[in-house]
Amino acid sequence: MSYPYQIKTLEDYKKDYNKSISDPESFWTPIAETFTWRKKWDKVLDWNFKDPKISWFSGGKLNITENCIDRHLEKNSNTPAIIWESNDPEEHHRVLTYKELHFKVVQFANVLRNNGAKKGDRICIYMGMIPELAIATLACARIGAIHSVIFGGFSAQAIADRLDDAKAEFIITCDGAFRGTKDIPLKSVIDDALVGNHTVKKVIVCTRTRTPVSMIKGRDVWWEDEIKKVETHGNPDLPAEEMDAEDMLFILYTSGSTGKPKGVVHTTAGYMIWTNYTFVNVFQYQPGQVHFCTADIGWITGHSYIIYGPLSAGATALMFEGLPTSPDAGRFWDIVEKYKVNILYTAPTAIRSLMAYGNDYINGKDLSSLKVLGSVGEPINEEAWNWYNVNIGKEKCPIVDTWWQTETGGVMISNLANVTPAKPSFATLPLPGILPCLMDENGSEIEGNNVNGNLCIKMPWPGIIRTTYGDHERCKQTYFSAYENKYFTGDGCMRDSEGNYRITGRVDDVLNVSGHRIGTAEVENAINMHAGVIESAVVGYPHDIKGQAIYAYVIYDGSHGDSNLSKQDIIQTVSRIIGPIAKPDKIQFVPGLPKTRSGKIMRRILRKIAEGDVTNLGDTSTLIDPALIELILEGKL
Ligand code: WT7
Repeated sequence: MSYPYQIKTLEDYKKDYNKSISDPESFWTPIAETFTWRKKWDKVLDWNFKDPKISWFSGGKLNITENCIDRHLEKNSNTPAIIWESNDPEEHHRVLTYKELHFKVVQFANVLRNNGAKKGDRICIYMGMIPELAIATLACARIGAIHSVIFGGFSAQAIADRLDDAKAEFIITCDGAFRGTKDIPLKSVIDDALVGNHTVKKVIVCTRTRTPVSMIKGRDVWWEDEIKKVETHGNPDLPAEEMDAEDMLFILYTSGSTGKPKGVVHTTAGYMIWTNYTFVNVFQYQPGQVHFCTADIGWITGHSYIIYGPLSAGATALMFEGLPTSPDAGRFWDIVEKYKVNILYTAPTAIRSLMAYGNDYINGKDLSSLKVLGSVGEPINEEAWNWYNVNIGKEKCPIVDTWWQTETGGVMISNLANVTPAKPSFATLPLPGILPCLMDENGSEIEGNNVNGNLCIKMPWPGIIRTTYGDHERCKQTYFSAYENKYFTGDGCMRDSEGNYRITGRVDDVLNVSGHRIGTAEVENAINMHAGVIESAVVGYPHDIKGQAIYAYVIYDGSHGDSNLSKQDIIQTVSRIIGPIAKPDKIQFVPGLPKTRSGKIMRRILRKIAEGDVTNLGDTSTLIDPALIELILEGKL
């Protein structure tokens, strides 16, 4: 594959950037033309942010899997598409070439069809990081079904809510998943999620851990048995479903400032082009290189930079089942050495945790294959940046600090490896197609440099969110109403004297814990479900490894005895309702919550107390009961 749109120099970047903003239609046309279409589009871009209504390449017909797989078969059928490394370093790795991936995706697409799945159906995928997860995802796209991948760390209740919201008809899961020394019983979680469900017709279960599972007659089938059925009937070549450019490709649930996660919807052509374009340009991918993105496919990073971006570019993506610290903190470096990884894309939280283990786990490992390092998910602090640069990149690899979101589909602001300059703790410059702006509290744009504001985007890019599933109004309210005619990111941001952007963190009630997005309202709802809890308020506080950790202030009816035990019970409740990723790190029982006369909890004060910054709590005169603050301070953890 060659990428005629790969930016090679700073001058090219400037030229492309300017063109993409002044004339997006003629900028994106030649790029889109390099893809495989069944029918060419009628119009490149149609949009308004008022409704919002955004369509890219409307009238165009295609299937994303033909772009991610079939189009590579002629010249690169034996190129590895996916290299898979097991949780267990002793277990043999697997390689799927583009030819093999094609075979397996077509085969599983047949399984889906045989089980009654068709275009437009919602299919929930709840699997561990095995190649079958990528195969299942692509097989959905092949038949035009809408996938909704749910991260393996979510609980049965969280899955039930998502199944219900998407009215999912099918589930693809595993018996279990390996994570370090643990074996997570995925199918059993699904069984719990299905109690009371009325939409799911079939559950396809892939074997991984061979944990005992219950298979319900008529509903549950084994992946392997279904594959055998396809094999005995021959593996009919399943022509990919013809999709409209704006047909839904997937739903991915993400947290916001309200209690209920929303289903972010991405569509076919725009998302494909955006993930491909950003992959090729940010990482400066060269054919033959091995790209290792350490994210789970249950998050947008895995969707965009393990599956769709790399595969649409004919790249080799490395997929890793395990944890960075298992069996020891040298796991990533062993993998880099073993597969001669060229691009490593990971999260600051992983970098900080490996940094804490010291350099013994790096010494003696051959990391000389590395060419580009990437960071994603949260701001990267300078200490972690420097450690990554010196110890992993040996000061020879550019670090791309990529800012983006589930809603943006792909990277929005980042330096381009070896093309545009890096600046530690800055995401730096917007990609072509991205027109950022900073807004003040009164809704006015803040012009000029060396300024701070709320980050918005002024025009659509191909990978922008199209709607929130089943509730377009919510999409409008959340992203397009805070500032007229702009997409609001929810992030605070500063722009330096050279126009570089530095993300300062969320300005809404959303936490970023180990790179995972968690809504405080969601955690509060979960805590409040616990018997004995009267009310709660959740805030974030800085944490050396996780970036942010969860602090919960809880008004608790103490008649239930031992308070430590009660805190454990509350943690268990959150684990049940959302999943272990949302467990509070600290719970403080308080006699009351600081409220204004209108009944609003003053989170600003609670945040300061949790952060340990108690010297200046700001104006507390509007509180109903200022004396409460003293009591809360006394009990601070
Ligand atoms: C939020 C989006 C993008 C995929 C992973 C997370 C924060 C993300 C950076 C970065 C500073 C970052 C933002 C954003 N974020 N990347 N490079 N520097 N902050 O996706 O779960 O949708 O979360 O993650 O706050 O809004 P997500």
